[in-house]
Amino acid sequence: MGFYFYIVCCFLIFFSKVSTAIDTISVSESLTDSMTLVSNDESFALGFFSPGTSNNRYLGIWYHNDPMQTVVWVANRVNPINDSTGMLKIESSGRVVLQVQNTTAVWSTNTTASVQNPVLQLLDSGNLVVRDEKDSNPEHYLWQSFDYPSDTMLPGMKIGIDLRTGFQRRLTAWKSWDDPSPGDLTYGVELEGGPEMGLWKGLRKYAMSGLWLGDRFSGIRDVRSNSIYDYNFVWNKKEAYYIFSLKNKSVLSRVVLNQTESVRKRYAWNPENQAWDMFSKRPSDDCDIYGLCGPNGNCDYNKLPICQCLRAFSPKWPEKWKSSDYSGGCIHNKPLNCQTGDGFIPIMRVKSPDITNLQVNKATNLKECEAECSKNCSCMAYTNLDFTRGGDSSCAMWYGGLVDIKQFQSDSDGMKLFIRVSASETGTGSLS
Ligand SMILES: *[C@@H]1O[C@H](CO)[C@@H](O)[C@H](O)[C@H]1NC(C)=O
Ligand SMILES: *[C@@H]1O[C@H](CO)[C@@H](O)[C@H](O)[C@H]1NC(C)=O
Ligand SMILES: *[C@@H]1O[C@H](CO)[C@@H](O)[C@H](O)[C@H]1NC(C)=O
Ligand SMILES: *[C@@H]1O[C@H](CO)[C@@H](O)[C@H](O)[C@H]1NC(C)=O
Ligand SMILES: *[C@@H]1O[C@H](CO)[C@@H](O)[C@H](O)[C@H]1NC(C)=O
Ligand SMILES: *[C@@H]1O[C@H](CO)[C@@H](O)[C@H](O)[C@H]1NC(C)=O
Repeated sequence: MGFYFYIVCCFLIFFSKVSTAIDTISVSESLTDSMTLVSNDESFALGFFSPGTSNNRYLGIWYHNDPMQTVVWVANRVNPINDSTGMLKIESSGRVVLQVQNTTAVWSTNTTASVQNPVLQLLDSGNLVVRDEKDSNPEHYLWQSFDYPSDTMLPGMKIGIDLRTGFQRRLTAWKSWDDPSPGDLTYGVELEGGPEMGLWKGLRKYAMSGLWLGDRFSGIRDVRSNSIYDYNFVWNKKEAYYIFSLKNKSVLSRVVLNQTESVRKRYAWNPENQAWDMFSKRPSDDCDIYGLCGPNGNCDYNKLPICQCLRAFSPKWPEKWKSSDYSGGCIHNKPLNCQTGDGFIPIMRVKSPDITNLQVNKATNLKECEAECSKNCSCMAYTNLDFTRGGDSSCAMWYGGLVDIKQFQSDSDGMKLFIRVSASETGTGSLS
């Protein structure tokens, strides 16, 4: 093995491509404030840094070749070090400890296991892992930083939930540009009813992706043909998570939350300018803001005002609606009569309504789905989904007011939804 440390002055980090990078520490070694670990292909570095104008020291991972030293992960987010005595060690139990003044632990990992020779390694992916020296199987990692994301999602990282253990991987924004402690903007998976990704502010939904349809999210414009990344949403008995990979390894991309701006941004590395270009952001327009137009509203960015009512609906409080208070939403133009029978009309190219009151049943076709929905007077909309856990086709039914619908223009975006209206709106008469 013959480890030796690659020691550089802080301000020389950017120019340090001269010697062989050390990406691993073992039990007898430690990483102090002036040292860095560098991944084998020199993509990422692990070391101590001070964000913005702060004098606090944090242990973090950043892009090694980025002159801006963009940080992608922080260990001691809530426990900054106030001097240069920080020291990272791996114990023989496999526990990783960040100490100050040789004694106080400001951060540590919790997992231990009986392995022969545990090592801490910074991988080329930017994942910091604890593993047995002789075992590089990812399934056997004792601990990995990808399980504890900060504000940044990297290629290969899973953002979502392990359904067997309930363990969640979410992004949490930094409080501000010079304070990596957790803000209240988070990004993760929502599984109630059906799967989708979402941004939350505290416990409040802030911008949701809409249902995953098997190849895209119903509330996000199709971006599959982009030149930078591929993405997938995996949903099976074990896990539900969003993941992405790079199409070209030299065109880097990352997703980051920003508390100050309340956004989730995707950046792509521009090799010519040696800088990050913004590729996309969410919310992308006001219609992405959760529930903006109230129940049964339809947010259409191409209309004025952007809040419209669904077809066959009108504002519940017309005066408030005129003064841009859309919170009351919309009500049916003609009252429903569930006993004598209502009808359903299709609306096209829309984001799926909020899934809180969604129920997904097995159904072989659309007719069966419609019959199921019309049986229950509080079922307000339905559609059939090709994609569910296990791959069966199914029937999605929404109960109560339809919240958070967004109108798209292109046939490749959004989904088709059938909404309950008075039988007299449909011309086809009763369905019961
Ligand atoms: C630095 O932090 C230590 C605890 O980690 C504390 O005892 C000490 O007073 C702090 N020093 C300053 C200058 O804030
Ligand atoms: C930390 O401990 C090591 C050995 O245990 C010792 O050599 C070193 O001087 C100590 N450093 C400080 C700052 O106390
Ligand atoms: C270790 O466990 C504590 C308490 O369960 C938890 O607060 C902390 O986040 C865990 N640390 C890591 C690095 O997982
Ligand atoms: C968030 O955005 C603000 C404004 O554009 C920027 O100054 C700041 O550095 C960003 N924060 C982080 C943590 O990147
Ligand atoms: C990957 O991107 C680099 C830098 O833009 C470019 O030079 C190279 O041709 C690209 N490779 C492929 C296979 O597209
Ligand atoms: C209609 O469906 C809702 C939601 O599943 C349920 O709570 C309610 O009991 C159903 N009503 C009837 C009459 O079946």
